[in-house]
Amino acid sequence: MKTILLFASGAGSNVAAILRQLKGNPEYHFPLILTNNPKAGVIELAKQEGIDVMVFDRETFQSPVFIDTLDFYQPDLLVLAGFLWKIPEYLVKAYRNKIVNIHPALLPKFGGKGMYGHHVHEAVIAAGEKESGISIHLVNEHYDEGTLLLQKTVTIEPSDTPDTLAKKVLALEHEWYAKVIQNVLK
Ligand code: GAR
Repeated sequence: MKTILLFASGAGSNVAAILRQLKGNPEYHFPLILTNNPKAGVIELAKQEGIDVMVFDRETFQSPVFIDTLDFYQPDLLVLAGFLWKIPEYLVKAYRNKIVNIHPALLPKFGGKGMYGHHVHEAVIAAGEKESGISIHLVNEHYDEGTLLLQKTVTIEPSDTPDTLAKKVLALEHEWYAKVIQNVLK
């Protein structure tokens, strides 16, 4: 059985999609959802799913207590699903090749600090791109720069706005993240 810890900062629709696809499968165990945001929608979702939640602040995230908590669960994979803080170096080192992230654009374009959520789609539309998509990658010390595991594209129509693009990209995220997680854990 593989133990997966889920990290999210917002609505948690990716967490919901992952749980929908994998939680019923006895090969996977989801003991904990971690969030930096006490108002994150993912907290309610965790309650509904009967999964424990840990809400943490910046100080805790940087402290040995945090890694002790993770180590306690002996996770096979840390999954960042709409998690917006940079992963500290000590954590990348301790869980090298065991942290995956999803980004709502075709990296290396439209990645890096400040490029999250709606900001990404606004930048893509403003740049007049003809396509966008999703990137799922391993996490290293630099924002959005680890080894790519999967990219999928969507066509941008002239009528698309950041909102309509966000919806198309999110649908791809929901379709592919769980599959990539399964592959990584093989
Ligand atoms: C998703 O689109 C995800 O790719 C993005 O935040 C959204 C979270 O939605 N992540 C980033 O921008 C990371 N740089 P969700 O909370 O509904 O899963």
